Amino acid sequence: MAADPLAQGARYTAGWWRRRSLRFRLTVVASAVLALALVASACVMIGVLRRTLLSGIDQEIYRRARETVSLSDAGRLPAEMTSIDGTLLQVVDGSGRITHATGGTGRPVPLLDAGERALAVRLGEARFLDGEPYGIPHTLRVRALSAGAGRTVIAARPFGEVRAGVGAAGHVLLVGTPLLLVLLAGASWLIIGRTLRPIAALRRGAEEITDTARSRRLPVPEARDEVHSLAVTLNDMLARLEKADARQRALVSDAAHELRSPLASIRLQLEVALGHPEGQEWRETAEGVLEDTMRLARLAEDLLALARLDERGGRPGRREPVALDRLVPRTAERYGAAVTVRVAGGAGAPGREDGSITVTGDALDLGRVLVNLVDNALRHTSAPVVVELRAEGADAVLTVTDDGPGVPEPDRERVFGRFTRLDSARSRDEGGAGLGLAIVRETIHAHGGAVHLEDASPGLRAVVRLPLS
Ligand SMILES: Nc1ncnc2c1ncn2[C@@H]1O[C@H](COP(=O)(O)OP(=O)(O)OP(=O)(O)O)[C@@H](O)[C@H]1O
Ligand SMILES: [Mg+2]
Repeated sequence: MAADPLAQGARYTAGWWRRRSLRFRLTVVASAVLALALVASACVMIGVLRRTLLSGIDQEIYRRARETVSLSDAGRLPAEMTSIDGTLLQVVDGSGRITHATGGTGRPVPLLDAGERALAVRLGEARFLDGEPYGIPHTLRVRALSAGAGRTVIAARPFGEVRAGVGAAGHVLLVGTPLLLVLLAGASWLIIGRTLRPIAALRRGAEEITDTARSRRLPVPEARDEVHSLAVTLNDMLARLEKADARQRALVSDAAHELRSPLASIRLQLEVALGHPEGQEWRETAEGVLEDTMRLARLAEDLLALARLDERGGRPGRREPVALDRLVPRTAERYGAAVTVRVAGGAGAPGREDGSITVTGDALDLGRVLVNLVDNALRHTSAPVVVELRAEGADAVLTVTDDGPGVPEPDRERVFGRFTRLDSARSRDEGGAGLGLAIVRETIHAHGGAVHLEDASPGLRAVVRLPLS
């Protein structure tokens, strides 16, 4: 099917229009509306002017006709009537003869014949009359009134003066309207440009951010308008991005820092061993290197776990039923006697008659949470670590309690940060990188739960709450 050239043209125009700047389009639309309004008001003005002039003429000839009727009835009509202000007057008697007339009526015939006179008198209003047949080069406005003794008074006035007046006004409007339109369009262009200036400033600000990364904020206009709230919102977004960026940078630098010490240790041990091969305890060296390698492996694993948590954006990796009452004892089993597990069945709770404590999420990740908490506890405790699980209302509550030195109240939130270790703990034993609790908190949050540390006097209790499924 051949493409319709008309439709194609319309599409091209629409495309062209959309590609124009907002300023251009707004100005054109505003000017078009203005043009319509100006033309409409010009038409109305001309119409009103014409009607006003016409009614002025009509009143004038009526007044002159009435005067003449009075004079005629009083028998005081002058033999030679004079035309004041250009009004033509004729007095016609019953037989159709002009008895009196002003000069200038071209030919001495009545402007209206007998029938027309009777009609005009009956209708009682003025009408148009072509002056040509009477030797008057104008269209006339004519009014007829009956007077005594069968006479009729005819008054007429050239309509040309109205036409001239309207024409003059039309000329003024014809020149003035486009001029006014151009002026208004120019003003619109300037005003719209000024209105859009904050947006241009925003654009320039955004450009500078990518180019120089100097001011990482957009300029906020003073006016409390839409552009102001847009700038504020965008700046908030920039702040959030900046924070995320800083966090990412800190993570990379912390990770590099953490990698450095085991690597340095491995290198030192190997260098020492290779420098003095004689009498070297190779087994000891290998054990030392293996320990550092394990640290590296754990660090890599923890970083990977955190990266995955970030990637999922606060959602668990899977959504499947996880029976904590089975997962917790199974996970604790590997620690043997060092960990005591107590599971209080949720039997009796609505929907939990079988005593199972089930949540929705990722079993592997939840297992890691328990391992991290137990590892921490074991590092500080002297007595066996107690792991308790119970259902409480709509939540599953998991606690890990030790009798170690605990964490001072002001640090209990801080230790959940990435790479946060308390110095006392580091001096006590080697410890990890400080990622364990960060992984715990982020995993639990992804599962819609909460975790906090509390005093177990003596020792510390980590409390995890997860919504039951
Ligand atoms: N049960 C606890 N008793 C005393 N201090 C604790 C306990 N659990 C954690 N902490 C303190 O909180 C800090 C952060 O714990 P986190 O598990 O995040 O890191 P880590 O155990 O040092 O390293 P990682 O878990 O990465 O091996 C620890 O360094 C330690 O100082
Ligand atoms: Mg830990």
